[in-house]
Amino acid sequence: MRMLDLEAAGIGEGISEVIVTTKSAAGMPNAAPIGIITTVDDDGARTHQVKLYRGSQTLANVLETGTLAANVTTDAVLFVETAFDDLSAEYFTEFFGIPVLRKTTAWIIFTSELVEEKEVYLRFQLCPQAVKINRKEVKAINRGLNAVIEATVLATRLRISTEKREREEPRKELERYAAIVAKCGGWREREAMGMLKEKFLHGAE
Ligand SMILES: Cc1cc2nc3c(=O)[nH]c(=O)nc-3n(C[C@H](O)[C@H](O)[C@H](O)COP(=O)(O)O)c2cc1C
Repeated sequence: MRMLDLEAAGIGEGISEVIVTTKSAAGMPNAAPIGIITTVDDDGARTHQVKLYRGSQTLANVLETGTLAANVTTDAVLFVETAFDDLSAEYFTEFFGIPVLRKTTAWIIFTSELVEEKEVYLRFQLCPQAVKINRKEVKAINRGLNAVIEATVLATRLRISTEKREREEPRKELERYAAIVAKCGGWREREAMGMLKEKFLHGAE
């Protein structure tokens, strides 16, 4: 089989946090942050998988079409927007007939095969079909960006818990991430954190 260089497109060993785009059988596009799990065996062979938690549109679409696209980006706002809101049509273009996000640095199209069904998630093996690197991005680690990603993961989990007392600890954690963003982030990270705080701190009062 033809080998595609996913490392060059930003997908390395471990969990790569990307925006996964899919479409429904009816052709409706969707985007959500998802982790692509990459393992490397002793011979250097790479395996890519995703765990999709039940209830998401992404899971419904992957079950319907057997295909997904990984959009590689370091845009903090895009992670917050796609975690909680539906993107309008102008965010999307197409690559090999699959919706992808216009402003992202790389696209990888995968076909998926269901390999495990659990009560809370379904696990899929991914097979890369096409890669496009739109531009090379050289970016030093920014703690503000990392803090936005952690805060967004926390907020997607927090959404499930509605009890006020169950929100007390996560609230403190969110405030800690917000302080890191204020100190280390750029305007994109500050905007993303502002959106998160709006939704989950002020909105919860
Ligand atoms: C950084 C990050 C990584 C995530 N990874 C996953 C994942 O691997 N699997 C999953 O099911 N949900 C994951 N989520 C949560 C989904 O993005 C979230 O449930 C989203 O609302 C699903 O949207 P959808 O219904 O449009 O698919 C992640 C969230 C964030 C912020």
